[in-house]
Amino acid sequence: MAHTVVIRELGAAEAEQRLDELGAILRDAVESGASVNFLQGFTQTEAEDFWRGQLAGIADGGRHLLVAEDGARLIGTVVLTKAPQPNQPHRADVGKMLVLAAHRRRGIGRRLLDAVETLARDEGRTLLMLDTTLGSSGDLLYRSCGWVEYGIVPGHALSTLGVPTATAFFYKEV
Ligand SMILES: CC(C)(COP(=O)(O)OP(=O)(O)OC[C@H]1O[C@@H](n2cnc3c(N)ncnc32)[C@H](O)[C@@H]1OP(=O)(O)O)[C@@H](O)C(=O)NCCC(=O)NCCS
Repeated sequence: MAHTVVIRELGAAEAEQRLDELGAILRDAVESGASVNFLQGFTQTEAEDFWRGQLAGIADGGRHLLVAEDGARLIGTVVLTKAPQPNQPHRADVGKMLVLAAHRRRGIGRRLLDAVETLARDEGRTLLMLDTTLGSSGDLLYRSCGWVEYGIVPGHALSTLGVPTATAFFYKEV
């Protein structure tokens, strides 16, 4: 049940210990057809490698990882990456908004998004940006949470099956 699900920040040390769970969430998203930078055939090892590559940024504070945890198991993620440019100290990117397919449509994605927006505001990052496949579950989530679409690029990315798809770009001031 969604009410037993806790949303919290995961530090680099715990993230490193739980790469298998984080990898499973990312792999599940790709297997479910989500366009999250990877193609069908994406392996657990590749998924863990992706998260391993995020650890240094999490450790140095340039990036924050929030997770949804159901009991002892991680079932969702979202990442806030602070813009590194000196002239964009107020901006950050939101990515890897993922909920295990078996746990979707229970409000967990909305809670992760609320939590990452609050964290961003607390960190002084008041302009957030992200992009997602036009018409995807993410697209519907962001629109329902007040994100503003500022453009669509046809054929911007491939679907997991290799078909060119349009990407919608969003921002939100928090
Ligand atoms: C996007 C994602 C994180 C949403 O997680 P979720 O826990 O299912 O989302 P929620 O239950 O909080 O949904 C919140 C609202 O978003 C919209 N929404 C989310 N998924 C939707 C879907 N499949 N169809 C229609 N509306 C949807 C609805 O308005 C929903 O509110 P409602 O259930 O009251 O109608 C999840 O579908 C996912 O992991 N998808 C694959 C990965 C992905 O594409 N991520 C985004 C890439 S940037």
